[in-house]
Amino acid sequence: MAGLGDLPDDPLERVAVLRSTLERYNREYHELDAPSVPDSVYDQLTRELAALEAEHPELASPDSPTQQVGSAPSSLFAEVVHRVPMMSLDNAMDQAELHSWGERTARRLGEIGDADLAERASGVVRYVCELKIDGLAVSIRYEGGELVQAATRGNGRVGEDVTANVATIESVPHTLVGKAVPDVIEARGEIYLPIDRFEALNAAQEAAGRPRYANPRNTAAGSLRQKDVEMTRGRGLAFWCYQLGEVVGGPALAGHSDALALLGELGLPVNPETAVVDDLDEVYAFSQRWLEHRHDLPYEIDGVVVKVDALELQRRLGSTSKAPRWAIAYKLPPEERTTVLTSIEVSVGRTGKVTPFAVLEPVFVGGSTVGLATLHNEDQVRLKDVRPGDTVIVRKAGDVIPEVVGPVLAERSKKSKPWTFPATCPCDLGSPLVRVEGESQHRCVHADCPFQRLARICHFASRGAMDIDGLGEKQVVKFIELGLLHDVADIYSLDFDVIASQRGYQQRSIDKLRAAIEASKARPLANLLFGLNIVHVGASVAEVIADAFGSLDALMGADEADLSAVEGIGPVIVSSVAQFFSLEANQELIVRLREAGVDPVAVERTVAPQTLAGMSVVVTGSLTDFTRDEVEHAIKSRGGKSPGSVSKKTTAVVVGDDPGASKLSKATELGVPVLDEAQFVRLIETGELPT
Ligand code: IVH
Repeated sequence: MAGLGDLPDDPLERVAVLRSTLERYNREYHELDAPSVPDSVYDQLTRELAALEAEHPELASPDSPTQQVGSAPSSLFAEVVHRVPMMSLDNAMDQAELHSWGERTARRLGEIGDADLAERASGVVRYVCELKIDGLAVSIRYEGGELVQAATRGNGRVGEDVTANVATIESVPHTLVGKAVPDVIEARGEIYLPIDRFEALNAAQEAAGRPRYANPRNTAAGSLRQKDVEMTRGRGLAFWCYQLGEVVGGPALAGHSDALALLGELGLPVNPETAVVDDLDEVYAFSQRWLEHRHDLPYEIDGVVVKVDALELQRRLGSTSKAPRWAIAYKLPPEERTTVLTSIEVSVGRTGKVTPFAVLEPVFVGGSTVGLATLHNEDQVRLKDVRPGDTVIVRKAGDVIPEVVGPVLAERSKKSKPWTFPATCPCDLGSPLVRVEGESQHRCVHADCPFQRLARICHFASRGAMDIDGLGEKQVVKFIELGLLHDVADIYSLDFDVIASQRGYQQRSIDKLRAAIEASKARPLANLLFGLNIVHVGASVAEVIADAFGSLDALMGADEADLSAVEGIGPVIVSSVAQFFSLEANQELIVRLREAGVDPVAVERTVAPQTLAGMSVVVTGSLTDFTRDEVEHAIKSRGGKSPGSVSKKTTAVVVGDDPGASKLSKATELGVPVLDEAQFVRLIETGELPT
């Protein structure tokens, strides 16, 4: 441990040592859940650093630990301007598109008019077929055979300097070998995380009670872009090289295949699954083979890349502003895998909605391991005819949401029986479940159902509601177990001494939780209303009601007629809200919230930020926190469009329960991103699609 006594006297050095020490402590604390020093030491060093930065403003820096929350990877890597831009690739979604690219290419070459070229184009345009590795592109520059710089693609023109991180990757040589080392050579390729490393990382996450990483690609990107290179080193990233950037000197090259051969001779890792073929039929055969065998690879691929081999032809074909005309990415369709459905369980939501889901033997599909998949409702289970014990086909809808396609009937056991919806709630109270005529959903209607209670408290604390950071599901479960939480009002009288006496609770996280709870008291009225779990009151109905009444008092004093007078509030919502506030238990809850200092205010509404300007978002199926009207309002009020069908122009498709099969398959076919509800909420907040 770096005690204060060990610190150098020179302020510059002292700041550097303090920063790196604090960065390490942050990482141990936030990422590894294994702090190596007591909070007091951490606090003392932070104060010392802050004092030094105040004393020497020239030493202050936006990426100092004093300026940061947690230890999220900093975006403050130095910029690298690519001397040869790093382009992306156009996509072909199916064989027909691949074929028209082939024809277009041949025609273009013919039109160029050079007799020699035309001959080559009509007869022998050779193609190089490569795997499309699912990772992130980097350009690694060698001068005089030595690695001097590595950069991410960034926007294609300017990337980030990740030299130190890339240098930790075992398959990246620091020095090139062979007789033909060019003066300058930029080796471009993909950094990826092998599947076994991804699985091992997630096993460690689970063992430590931390959330799993979503998929190898994002994990690779996160692992590379770390300020602390030791973090990168530990992750086990790897590299495949598939393209040249700037080259000065070295042997003359006629084809891309020669470039790959040179890269290999220099000691760079070139993927062995590369083929030089003579026509498009062979290109199909290559892609077909990898469609079938993608699982045999120890890393993820998301397609194959086809490149015209002759560099001279490449030069003649040129590029559009984004992508070369001489190459195309042939995307593999979403993959399907089989696994065993071990059981069908049900989960109980905050309003009592009971949803069946499949428990699967974990299977790696579409870039991540899937162990659970929603089955939506009783009718869907019947329709798909899936039964416990079945071997089932699993795929990712739009490569995001896991879906059970159906059973493999040939493998069904003779003893298998259809699944029946449980008659009672899985909680200890075991109260009867009801399915209202005309509805597809079962509900638990017991007011004290512990599952509903858990979901209600979690929802109250969630981001869209009271936004209490540090009060996630894990903590809520724990606090309920400890007898500290029975309902949402208890959040404001949590016994922090009891919490502090529990293993694994650091003073620092307790202080943070206390501050987050305190801050939640002044959330806007709409957030509180949304957080109260009133049936049919999603985020935007809550906003409309808060706008109309302005204060909790005014709302509580309102009768059904007042509520009905509010534009956009229909009779179902009116009666649900009126019923909620008429129940004595709810009135008491609100009194307790207020006594605790919860004092919501209506914020003056301005126009919602236009985060979705120019976007077209299609919604299919029902969402948990939005009615149909609310979804539409949420999209349109932020400048977006919400048409009823999916087309090439669709920005994203949001999938809820019971989605329409045609919208989903159209989205998948066109490669339109498919989002779940949480991702949709992020999209409307930030205007950004998940990466
Ligand atoms: S060639 C100018 N080859 O796919 C051509 N790209 O969708 C540059 N990728 O940004 C790319 N495997 O990150 C090429 N064998 C391969 C590839 C590959 C994966 C990635 C790369 C690129 C993206 C385009």
